[in-house]
Amino acid sequence: MTTEPETGPAPSRPDSALPLATAPLATATSASTHAPGLAVIVGSTREGRAGPAFAEWFRDQAWNHGRFRIDLIDLADAKIPSVYPAHPDSPVREYIRRLADADAFVIVTPEYNHGYPGTLKQAIDLARSEWHAKPVGFVSYGGVAGGLRAVEQLRPVFAELHAVTVRDGVSFRNYWETFDVATRMPRADDGCNAAAIKMLDQLLWWSVALRDARSQRPYVA
Ligand SMILES: Cc1cc2nc3c(=O)[nH]c(=O)nc-3n(C[C@H](O)[C@H](O)[C@H](O)COP(=O)(O)O)c2cc1C
Repeated sequence: MTTEPETGPAPSRPDSALPLATAPLATATSASTHAPGLAVIVGSTREGRAGPAFAEWFRDQAWNHGRFRIDLIDLADAKIPSVYPAHPDSPVREYIRRLADADAFVIVTPEYNHGYPGTLKQAIDLARSEWHAKPVGFVSYGGVAGGLRAVEQLRPVFAELHAVTVRDGVSFRNYWETFDVATRMPRADDGCNAAAIKMLDQLLWWSVALRDARSQRPYVA
């Protein structure tokens, strides 16, 4: 269930991962003494979508991880317009404000025709500096590729936005066999919980490091 199928299932959390999660806050400057904000973004707005089930499962993983302030952003609530607006309306402005408030992001995305949803692209494009110098991770789901083709297309988009995508993620292959959308839980823990923790540790490291850096001097885009 990792984004790296060639390396096999994610190992359980190694002890060596712990300093990633603890050292930056333990040696914190004043900017690092409060929990970084993590925005978990539901990337699908399709009628009858499965996306919120994966997002809520991951939100709970992040909650149990215990190191982030968590904001679950549903693009359906943001009412992302199909036409790029000259003057965003109130739900879009609120969505952008919530991105600005975050220090890290997790995009929960399905795979549509080997890509990611069009609404998600519009939502990404509606913001700019709000993505800058912040880490991004992915939870993906789909058929045989587990949504990974969508994830690989999102990486260069976020590079253009000066965001840092983390290497590890969570991917649900043939999700109707591996994830129970009704209960919003994986059918078995065959590595997905460990994969989530690994990604959260990486997001924590980057979010604290980059928040400190942004507080010391403005990012140069
Ligand atoms: C327009 C469309 C295209 C799809 N293309 C793919 C695909 O290329 N690969 C895949 O694994 N699943 C594909 N699927 C199946 C999705 O993985 C599945 O419908 C999933 O539930 C979509 O996420 P959502 O329910 O959150 O919208 C496609 C679904 C739709 C609606």
